[in-house]
Parts: sequence; C-alpha cells; structure tokens
Amino acid sequence: MSAHPGWPAVLTDGPVILRPFRRSDAAAWSQTRRENQHWLAPWEPIPPCSWYEANSPAVFRRMLRESNKAGRQGRSMTFAVCYDEHLTGDARLVGQITVGNIVRRAFCSAYVGYWVDGRYAGRGITPTALALVTDHAFNHAGLHRIEVNIRPENRASRRVVEKLGFRQEALHRRYLHIDGDWRDHLGYALTVEDVQEEGGLVARWHRIRGS
Ligand SMILES: CC(C)(COP(=O)(O)OP(=O)(O)OC[C@H]1O[C@@H](n2cnc3c(N)ncnc32)[C@H](O)[C@@H]1OP(=O)(O)O)[C@@H](O)C(=O)NCCC(=O)NCCS
Repeated sequence: MSAHPGWPAVLTDGPVILRPFRRSDAAAWSQTRRENQHWLAPWEPIPPCSWYEANSPAVFRRMLRESNKAGRQGRSMTFAVCYDEHLTGDARLVGQITVGNIVRRAFCSAYVGYWVDGRYAGRGITPTALALVTDHAFNHAGLHRIEVNIRPENRASRRVVEKLGFRQEALHRRYLHIDGDWRDHLGYALTVEDVQEEGGLVARWHRIRGS
C-alpha cells in the first residue's frame, strides 16, 4: 500500500470538481482570496502579516509545495474546488477544501476545512465538496472518521455540516486563534458507519436535495 492511498485524486459531482492545485492556479487563488478578505477573515486563523501579503502568489506556491509533500506523506489532501456552472468544461477555481491532520493506526481520522468565494455562496458547492471528500476519505484513503470544527457564530458553515447530517459532538473552548482572539468551536463528526447503508454521503446529499 502506498503512503497515502487515495492521493492524488480528482472528484466530481455535477458542476463541482475537486482536483489537486497546480502552479498555474497561483494568480486566480491569490486574486480570489484577496478580493474575499472581508468574507473569509472572520473565520480563518490570523496571518502573521497583512491579508494582502498572506495571500500572494508566492504564498500560494509555498502552500502548494507543502501540501504536495503532505499529500505524498499521507498527512493531508488539499483540493482546489472548481465550479463548471454551465457544464461546458470550463471550470473556474472558486474555493478550497482540505482533509488535514490525518492520523492513522487506531484513529484513522482527519479534520476538514473549507472556504468558497463569496460570489459563489449559497449554491451548495461546499456541501457537495464535503460529501465528495468524505466518501473519498472513507472509500479510498482508508479513513474512518471525519471531523469539522466550526465557530458557533458561523451559521453558514454550521448549515453545511447540519444539512449533511454530521453529529455535533463537542464544544472546544478557546480552540483556535481567529480574528483577534481564541475562539470556541463546535466539533462535528461523521464515521463510515453513519453513511454505509445509504451508499455514502454524496448519495445522502442527492437524496436530501432531491437530485
Ligand atoms: C461556510 C461556506 C464554506 C459555505 O459554503 P457554500 O458553498 O455557500 O454552502 P451552501 O451553499 O450550502 O450554503 C450554506 C449556508 O450559507 C448561507 N448562505 C447562502 N447564501 C449565502 C450568501 N450569499 N451569503 C452568505 N451566506 C449565505 C445559508 O444559510 C446556507 O444555508 P441554507 O442551505 O440553509 O440556505 C461559505 O459560506 C464560506 O466560505 N464562508 C467563509 C469561510 C468559512 O466560513 N469557512 C468555514 C470555516 S469552518
């Protein structure tokens, strides 16, 4: 078995395409993140410099090198979230989803983090992406449990996990340093057994959406 079964991978459901980042994504990633400062900053760990500097093409290239290495070593899987709005084969980079902190052995668990360009919010892109990576993690990457940790104030993100049926299991006090202070987070989780009988989380999501 390779160090990281299931990586690299391309995952697709309708207009949503998840693929590994490429060097050529640098300009689009940087521009999207810079334009979305007010949309993203309340929910992300504070950068050590200005938002503009923290989201430069050079920072993207460093992140890409680190995530490629982590992918090879089986520590994480970082996907570009692309959206092919009119199903014309012309998918646009609109976000990111990362299966991180992968721990194997008796735990076989990971955390998922995500963001989407505010101009593409409310289209079900993130729940589709989360369902895709969860099924992939369970079926191809050998994981048993997926966790998502969310600030209680982040109603949009809580809706993502609640729509998919993740269980709220924990309240982590002063969990992450975000937007100027240590912030509480709610812990949500799902295990393989939760979705096995339904044929996976993508199948459940389709049933919920009636698609
Ligand atoms: C959280 C986030 C990833 C959700 O992505 P998404 O692709 O819009 O997800 P959905 O389409 O399922 O929408 C989720 C909820 O967002 C809210 N929403 C919808 N359109 C919205 C808009 N234009 N602006 C703000 N919120 C909106 C709705 O409450 C929706 O829930 P609903 O299905 O009950 O209507 C996105 O809001 C985001 O990137 N936020 C900033 C970064 C962030 O919070 N990351 C997660 C940290 S844990």
